[in-house]
Amino acid sequence: MKDIVLKDVSKSYDGLTVVEGFNLTLEAGKITCLLGVSGVGKTTILNIIGGLAGSQGSVSGVPERISYIFQNPTLLPNMTVEGNLDFVLRSQIKDKEERKKIIAEAIQNVGLSEFAKAYPYQLSAGMAQRVSMARAFVYPSELILMDEPFRGLDVATKARLLEYFLALWQKSKKTVLLVTHNIDEAVLLSDKILVLGGRPARISAEYFLNSDKFARKLSDKDAAEVFGKIYDWFAAVTPKS
Ligand SMILES: Nc1ncnc2c1ncn2[C@@H]1O[C@H](COP(=O)(O)OP(=O)(O)OP(=O)(O)O)[C@@H](O)[C@H]1O
Ligand SMILES: [Mg+2]
Repeated sequence: MKDIVLKDVSKSYDGLTVVEGFNLTLEAGKITCLLGVSGVGKTTILNIIGGLAGSQGSVSGVPERISYIFQNPTLLPNMTVEGNLDFVLRSQIKDKEERKKIIAEAIQNVGLSEFAKAYPYQLSAGMAQRVSMARAFVYPSELILMDEPFRGLDVATKARLLEYFLALWQKSKKTVLLVTHNIDEAVLLSDKILVLGGRPARISAEYFLNSDKFARKLSDKDAAEVFGKIYDWFAAVTPKS
């Protein structure tokens, strides 16, 4: 796996310059978080990396196969949990039995074995998001792009989801870009946090967290310090409207 590098990237929408001369590196096998207020350009940058938005400048190291996890789990409503996972795996692995094994393990990894034959409408939002995560990890991608995947979930549900996510990630060590405006999940999951601010957006601060992510707590000294610094920085930002 290669690092993903954006060099001198610019993107405008009808005269609105979201990024200009923007540089960013996603280290291979690490979790990097882009943290910033609404409208700063997080999704735009994620879409540039995923090839969903055109841009000027250089974007290198992006693998062919990418998994996405969005705020909305985007499950296919007419397929079971198993079926949704099989849908992304079918084109990649021809052997049905092999697919079955991989899918059963992934569903077990997110604690949903009893719901393998359930349809999306029978799942809670947190459960559906767990399926979306399992799907992102069964697909043989090297990069996972996540756009606000934990938004709108209560603290307990989110805490469990973070655990499930880390357990899946630990087994695969895929490169991850997490885009969010929530400081807590950024601090709990990331190897590196990039704070985005301004227009055009630029990286205002960079934080590295080296502690074991499985044991990490917001009350840990280093995590609390990073949380506090980022919170204070955001609190001092004046909203545009
Ligand atoms: N397709 C588009 N056409 C025109 N303007 C756009 C388009 N997509 C985004 N923008 C503008 O670009 C800016 C950055 O948007 P973007 O969606 O990247 O922000 P964001 O940081 O992801 O915000 P949020 O946290 O609300 O999701 C915004 O001002 C937005 O209005
Ligand atoms: Mg967005």
